[in-house]
Amino acid sequence: MKVFIARNIPEKAIEHLKEKGLEVSINRTSKHLTREQLISQCRDKDFLILVGNAKLDSYFFEQCAHLKGIALTAVGFDHIDLDAATKAGIPVSNTAGSLRKTTADIAFLLMIAVSRKAFFQAKEVREKQKKSFDFMEDLGIEIENKTLGIYGLGDIGLEFAKMAKAAYGMKIIYHNRTINKEAENLVGAKYVSFDNLLTRSDVISAHVNLSPETKYKFNKDAFEKMKKSAIFINTARGKIHQEEDLIAALQQGEIWGAGLDVTDPEPISPENPLLEMPTVCILPHIGSATVEARTKMAVMAANNIICAKTGSKMPQVINKEVYKK
Ligand code: GLV
Ligand code: GLV
Repeated sequence: MKVFIARNIPEKAIEHLKEKGLEVSINRTSKHLTREQLISQCRDKDFLILVGNAKLDSYFFEQCAHLKGIALTAVGFDHIDLDAATKAGIPVSNTAGSLRKTTADIAFLLMIAVSRKAFFQAKEVREKQKKSFDFMEDLGIEIENKTLGIYGLGDIGLEFAKMAKAAYGMKIIYHNRTINKEAENLVGAKYVSFDNLLTRSDVISAHVNLSPETKYKFNKDAFEKMKKSAIFINTARGKIHQEEDLIAALQQGEIWGAGLDVTDPEPISPENPLLEMPTVCILPHIGSATVEARTKMAVMAANNIICAKTGSKMPQVINKEVYKK
């Protein structure tokens, strides 16, 4: 059986696939393949490991209905037409649980960096525009004992909440589809309505999947309800916030600052006014970019393919209905 890997992944995962008797071919270039190239590579393959956020749409699934399994090397799956995958009878897996700590680290880093205008200050230093010490200029704000509001309290949100509580004694409130008992017990998190989350949080951080329900959830209306001193953090997906509305909210002082690991589009345009704002910190989607997390993700994807090869269920399958057919 043959597997195609859409971009290079850690050798450990490739070895694992070979040991289990899979014939492996890999796009070793540094470029993402186009949809047509991907389809053509998949023609004579049984499985696909998708690396990156190439869209797999209904046309892809019509052309590649022969595939027996697709493993994503990501937690997010908003780029996949799952209904089309299920219709074609193809199980698709993600890497749920693989980047809990790594992504929480980035949310934490952005929170502190924004509160102290750290990226802006660093830029001034690099461009040698800055005096070494100034008593009253460009002051930040502190986060100790303040309230952290988590939108979407799953494993990443809970990890961030634990860090924020341990480091700064932050009070944790959250809004979710379901009550998270574990978080309530571990960090004393309190469930609140979305409106309450907006009005009460000093720092508000998004950790949801992108879906029709969560798309543009942070818009003009939401930013207006937030505190003028609030910091907005997004390490989930760029479309969770409405970028024009975020820019306006920052320019008009509706909120204090923002830390983004994700933007819409990615990469962000070099002309985007967010890049010039002292209380904004932007990173280029590095939430899972550590050697450890990427290795774990690749091995997890390989395991899912190996399970599919032996005819068992993929452990991290996301379109579970496919197995009911
Ligand atoms: C990264 O954004 C992921 O979804 O894993
Ligand atoms: C700051 O550097 C201080 O000495 O207060």
